[in-house]
Amino acid sequence: MLQGEKVVLRAMNRDDLEQLCQFNNDVAVELAGGGDPPMPQTLARLQAEFDTRVGQGGRDDAGFAIEAEGKFIGQCALFQFDHTAHTCMLGITIGDRAYWGRGYGRDAVRVLLDYAFRLRNQHRVYLSVNGNNERAIRAYRACGFVEEGRLRSHVWSDGAYIDLVYMGILRTEWRPKLSLAENTPISGR
Ligand SMILES: CC(C)(COP(=O)(O)OP(=O)(O)OC[C@H]1O[C@@H](n2cnc3c(N)ncnc32)[C@H](O)[C@@H]1OP(=O)(O)O)[C@@H](O)C(=O)NCCC(=O)NCCS
Repeated sequence: MLQGEKVVLRAMNRDDLEQLCQFNNDVAVELAGGGDPPMPQTLARLQAEFDTRVGQGGRDDAGFAIEAEGKFIGQCALFQFDHTAHTCMLGITIGDRAYWGRGYGRDAVRVLLDYAFRLRNQHRVYLSVNGNNERAIRAYRACGFVEEGRLRSHVWSDGAYIDLVYMGILRTEWRPKLSLAENTPISGR
């Protein structure tokens, strides 16, 4: 649906769930992703939740599977939309570790920002990230996010307290990449 330079963002399919289950049971992926501590997850539960959502009809709002080189490698989303202030949060997890640190994440984030600002008319996009997740922080900075706040020693992760960092980007700070605009991200896939 949305085309980047290295990734495609598209709807999640039931076929993706087996791979997603492996990602969700990878402790390193879960620790980097932040939020809840790593917990086991069964494929059956993922499938049941997926089927419930599909049964409700509608659309997936702003949740996307990330595809690279024809493979499902992770997911990303905009969420917590404030329909008055036009703000939302951004989340991303590349679950296939072979794709970490190779520019796939920042490409996905840039596509998602283009979607947020140009297609969903957002004023501001923000996120929280574990303070020790240097890879993520560098990738977000490269996309124009700046640090806006830091909750000191707020997260218990992997046996230690770490900071939780808030980062954000305003529409006025966002520099759309010409290639994205020219490519017409909605391609019908
Ligand atoms: C966070 C994530 C989306 C970033 O995507 P990515 O494709 O790995 O990142 P990129 O390759 O675009 O950029 C990574 C940056 O970190 C640097 N980097 C790579 N490996 C690193 C490491 N082990 N430690 C510190 N920095 C590292 C790279 O040099 C690059 O920075 P630079 O451009 O300033 O040189 C992805 O790694 C991911 O999903 N990780 C697991 C889950 C997660 O952390 N989610 C974010 C939760 S807030």
